[in-house]
This record gives sequence, structure tokens and C-alpha cells, in this order.
Amino acid sequence: MEPVIDVVNLSKAFGPKVVLSNVNLQVQEGESLCVMGGSGTGKTVLLRNIMGLLTPDSGHVAVDGKIIQQLNRDELFEVRQKIGMCFQMAALFDSMTVEENVGFALKRHTPMTKAEIADRVDECLSMVGLKDTNKLKPSELSGGMKRRVGFARAIALKPKILLFDEPTTGLDPVMTDVIGRIILDLKAELGMTSITVTHDLKSAFEIADRIALIFRGECIACQTPGEFKVNPHPVVQQFLRGDADGPFLQDPPPPKRALDRALFHPIHID
Ligand SMILES: Nc1ncnc2c1ncn2[C@@H]1O[C@H](COP(=O)(O)OP(=O)(O)OP(=O)(O)O)[C@@H](O)[C@H]1O
Ligand SMILES: [Mg+2]
Repeated sequence: MEPVIDVVNLSKAFGPKVVLSNVNLQVQEGESLCVMGGSGTGKTVLLRNIMGLLTPDSGHVAVDGKIIQQLNRDELFEVRQKIGMCFQMAALFDSMTVEENVGFALKRHTPMTKAEIADRVDECLSMVGLKDTNKLKPSELSGGMKRRVGFARAIALKPKILLFDEPTTGLDPVMTDVIGRIILDLKAELGMTSITVTHDLKSAFEIADRIALIFRGECIACQTPGEFKVNPHPVVQQFLRGDADGPFLQDPPPPKRALDRALFHPIHID
């Protein structure tokens, strides 16, 4: 079966800095792939290449069999209509209300009437547990609410493909779980294909059919959560342990220091 998203030998550098090097990833229809890796390893750059917002130096990305880098403006626009993108920082329009944010693409890119848009906006907001927030501005929302509005906006066009960039970073564990469930619900209800970039191992293990780990520009693992857990690669194991010691960090961490006992000396007041 042809993958919905096919990343083929993708390389991208910025000046002398090689960010992605020969990355290959295939995501099948209805599959949920989680992409993990250290900060600055190119996860967002990968998503931006898939969206056609960045051009690879070599290799390509095919979405639904169409090579993104070979499309003209209109064709690219057509493919992007199938993709819901939830940006790393929610990226809401501050001057617009919640409903205007969620309905933005519907108003712009569909012939839907005002009433139809209002219904769809309500539907999306209720999917993410944010009924009755329609008239609020982003400044009146908490961080978790903003992220959920970002989701609602990403799913408004009923996209075939969803790209989530760190949907749970900075959220409390309960809200992280709520977001994870929303992703699973979306998969079950709409049968969407998704790529979720996350640092959160617990939610990756919950939502992923497969987990990919990017390390020094390369995809060093792409396997089911069960396989990933027992992958003997030292970088995978260090990542799972969340330990500073090991090959994961480019620069070795400072040596662990013994506690400075002086700090605990009782203060004598004469
Ligand atoms: N437009 C750009 N111009 C120059 N360098 C860039 C650009 N976009 C990204 N980079 C560099 O590419 C590297 C990867 O960035 P990217 O945003 O993909 O990291 P990330 O894996 O998403 O990190 P994080 O987990 O912190 O979000 C970084 O070193 C960044 O500085
Ligand atoms: Mg990022």
C-alpha cells in the first residue's frame, strides 16, 4: 500500500549546519507516528518540509503520492488542504476570537455559509472540550486552552492528515493525557493519518503506532512502542532513561558534583 506520507532520503542544512541527513519515513493511512528527539534535532524542520514550507537540499516528500517539491502553487495549495497543522506554539491570531481562529480556514477556503461555519466551529470546539469559549480572545485563554484551540483549528477542514508539533509541551500531566485522548479520538473518528512531534514519552507510548527517533540528523529508530522500548541502541536506551550520561548529548554534561556540604553547615549566631 502506498504510504500517505513518504519522506525519501530527505536532507536539509542551514548554511554549514546539517539538520536532517538522509531521513526516510513512511506513514501509512490511519497510522499515528510519533517523532521524538532532542531539542534542535530537526523535528519542526521535518514537519515544515512535509508541508512544503521548506525545500529540502536533496530527497523529497510525497503526500498521497504527490511529490511536494514538484508541485506548482495551486497544486501545493490543494495538497495542503488535506493537512491540518498544529504549530508548536499554537500560533493563534491574537486579534481574533476563538471562533474566528477556528473558522478562519473554513471562511477562506470553502464555500460554506456563515451558519455552516458556525456549526463546524462549535463541533470542533466541543471535540476539544472547549464549548462556549467562542467569543474569548487568545489572551483570555490558558496555555492548555490555546493548544486545544490550535487543535480545533487544525481539524476544522476535516483534514486527512494531521501534523502536531509538540502538542503537550508545558502542559500538566492531566492535560497532557486529555490531549493524547483527543488525538486518539480523532484517529478513531476521522481515521486520520498523523505525525506527532513530542518530548513526552508517556503520551508517545499511548498514541503512537510507531515511534521514530531523530538523532544527529538521522532517523535511528522507527518502530512500534513495544519494539522501541527494547531497542538496544544506546541512544534509544538513554532517551528512554532520560539520563544525561551517554551518547545522546553533543557536548558531555558537567561531571556530577558531590553536594556542597558547606551549604548545609548550620549557621551559628553568637
Ligand atoms: N529557518 C531556519 N534558518 C536557520 N536555521 C534554522 C531554521 N529553522 C531551523 N533551524 C535550525 O535547525 C535546527 C533544528 O531546528 P528545529 O526547529 O527543527 O528543532 P526541533 O527538533 O523542532 O527542536 P525543539 O524540540 O526544540 O522544538 C536548529 O539548530 C535550528 O536552529
Ligand atoms: Mg520544534
